[in-house]
Parts: sequence; structure tokens; C-alpha cells
Amino acid sequence: MVMDGNGRWANERGLTRTEGHRAGEAALLEAVAGATSAGVENLTAYAFSTENWKRSTDEVKFLMGYNKDVLRRRRDLLMEWNVRIRWSGAERKLWPSVVRELRIAEEMTKNNTGLVLTMAVNYGGRQEIVAAVNKILQEIRAGGQAPKSITEKTIQKRLYVPELPDVDMFLRSSGEMRISNFMLWQSSYAEMIFMDVLWPDFTRESLWEAISEFGRRQRRFGGASDAPLN
Ligand code: FPP
Repeated sequence: MVMDGNGRWANERGLTRTEGHRAGEAALLEAVAGATSAGVENLTAYAFSTENWKRSTDEVKFLMGYNKDVLRRRRDLLMEWNVRIRWSGAERKLWPSVVRELRIAEEMTKNNTGLVLTMAVNYGGRQEIVAAVNKILQEIRAGGQAPKSITEKTIQKRLYVPELPDVDMFLRSSGEMRISNFMLWQSSYAEMIFMDVLWPDFTRESLWEAISEFGRRQRRFGGASDAPLN
């Protein structure tokens, strides 16, 4: 889920971009509630990309602080909802206080059996793949045995959250139709769903609408099938 459009939502109302991000928090909870009731097992939310560091110092500071704040304020509620929180992203550059808050949330919710909500914070898809390759190198340098060949499994096992399955539905709000470096490895056969709604206006019904559209797609994973002859 690419939660896009906070800035535009705010601009339309003569508010600051940070007000848009604040309004995005409720939409995130709506998406989590909607996903839980629809029986979704995994939801991964793009909260801060490795490219978002290019934004103004004030906005970056706000987003860092706000990530921390949302995790702290909402972890009890998510715990109640039986949600397991995970973090996907790079530690480099990320505020140590944000890392700490993510780890606390992960630890606290680790035995929950409901929806797995992965917060992608300081996440970049290319960086994730590069990091996986570097892990292989480090393991070899540390005296491990070099694999005979590198397979998809070799890489998959070293992604930020190796347990995450392939993406079924890639959802982006705000009408933009881009991947923006999100879940590159995992999205090779994802169904792309782009919705015009700006993120702060996203509700559980928006998610259900996306899921219905997903249900109408014919997934072939590179295979072929003839349309039924009527
Ligand atoms: C993209 O909108 C959104 C972000 C970069 C941040 C996502 C943050 C939230 C949804 C806030 C609540 C949740 C957490 C965990 C902090 P944009 O700023 O790119 O919007 P624009 O394209 O209209 O400018």
C-alpha cells in the first residue's frame, strides 16, 4: 500500500503538508481495520522511503517524529486487534529513536496471530535487494561457504522481512501510477491497483473496493489460458 496524496489533500484545504500526514494516520487505521475484517494476512504500508530524505528538513523531521509517535500511541490498539507489527527498511540514517520504537512494537506484538502489518520505514526496493546481496558477501567473508550458485531463494532469505510472501495486490492512492521503489522483488506478479482517492480520504470501504477489483483480475503468472468458448 502506497499511502500517497497527503500533501495534495492538505494543499487543497490551505493546510500545511504535515497536517496532511496527520490526517493520514486515521486512514492507515481504517486500512488495517478493513484488511483485518476482509481476512487479509499481510499488509505492508510505505511510511517513509529512502527517497523521502530529499524532502525539506522540516518535513523529514516531522515524518520521523510522527512515525515514532504513531507507533507509540497506536501499539496498544493494534495489540488489541491481534495485529503483528513488523518493520521493513534500512537502519542506516534512520533515527535511532524510530528504530527503537519499531523494535518495541515488533517485540510486543510478536505472538499476535492476526494481520501482519509491516511498516516500511526508510525502505527502498533496490536497496533491499542490494542489502541482501551484500549479506551473502559478508557471510562468505566471515568464513561461510560460498553458495555454488545464487538462486531466488538465496536472495529471498536475506530480504528485510524474508517471511513476507509475494505481493498479490499493489495499491496506490492519489491517482499517481508509479511503483516508487516499493517492494520491487516481491511485486513481480502483483496486480496493480491505482485509486484516485487522496490518502487521508481512504477508508475501509476504499480497501474493500480495491479487493473487489483485485477479485475481477485474471492472474496467469506468465501462463496462458484461453477464454471460455460460449
Ligand atoms: C505520501 O504523501 C505520504 C508519505 C510520504 C508519508 C506517509 C505517512 C502517513 C500516511 C502518515 C501516517 C502514518 C505514519 C506511520 C507516519 P505525499 O506527501 O507524497 O503527498 P503528495 O504526493 O500529495 O505531496
